[in-house]
Amino acid sequence: MLSQEAIVFVNLHHQKMAMRKIQMVDLQSQYAFIREQVEAGMQEVLSSAQFINGPAVKSFQSNLEAYLGVKHVIPCANGTDALQVAMMGLGLQPGDEVITADFTFAATVEVIALLGLTPVLVDVDPVSFNISPQAIEKAITPKTKAIVPVHLFGQVADMDAIMAIAKKHNLYVIEDNAQGIGATHTDREGNKIKTGGIGHVGSTSFFRAALGFFLSATLRVSYMERKRVLVLGRPK
Ligand SMILES: Cc1ncc(COP(=O)(O)O)c(C=O)c1O
Repeated sequence: MLSQEAIVFVNLHHQKMAMRKIQMVDLQSQYAFIREQVEAGMQEVLSSAQFINGPAVKSFQSNLEAYLGVKHVIPCANGTDALQVAMMGLGLQPGDEVITADFTFAATVEVIALLGLTPVLVDVDPVSFNISPQAIEKAITPKTKAIVPVHLFGQVADMDAIMAIAKKHNLYVIEDNAQGIGATHTDREGNKIKTGGIGHVGSTSFFRAALGFFLSATLRVSYMERKRVLVLGRPK
């Protein structure tokens, strides 16, 4: 038989449990861990009033370049814009076909369509849910200009196979790394490369926080800082 105190305790515990719903993504709890750092950082930006391309953006840019091991990170507004800028920067033209996965977030395909390019959706691998290299190869036509693999749910697409296909058919690879930032790919030679730095261009998203897009070391790039224009050369 439970004592009166024990019954009160159990009831309170159950009430507390009932009040706290389990979230699929618990942003509030995550934020609690970094609250002080985030708030101090935001306060610094607000006090300096340097919001656009200020020191905070520059340090984000160089930290991310070092973290990803890429030559250039170009911060912009969000992952959708990053994909758009990447495709525009590569000089893709209306009518060009861009192959991507039929299982991804809407933005991947929306941007292709917005630019008047033709999205060619191909199957994903039933185990990894990432784009199938065999399906890519079958979908290539003379109009194909680029492949957009998506590293879905943090899992790396089969980049060795995709890069080999791209090389064989002279295609660009734009990695949609919105869900994959921080993942590492080990290539056939055993080199470890962060996703986003494997293809010719990578885009990422910090999902409702901030974001950037970055260019891999294989791309010759000339960035006209003042005009915010990208001129990209053909990768080797
Ligand atoms: C695979 C994928 N691509 C692109 C985006 C677009 O990123 P943003 O929401 O920052 O525009 C998202 C966002 O969730 C995504 O999951």
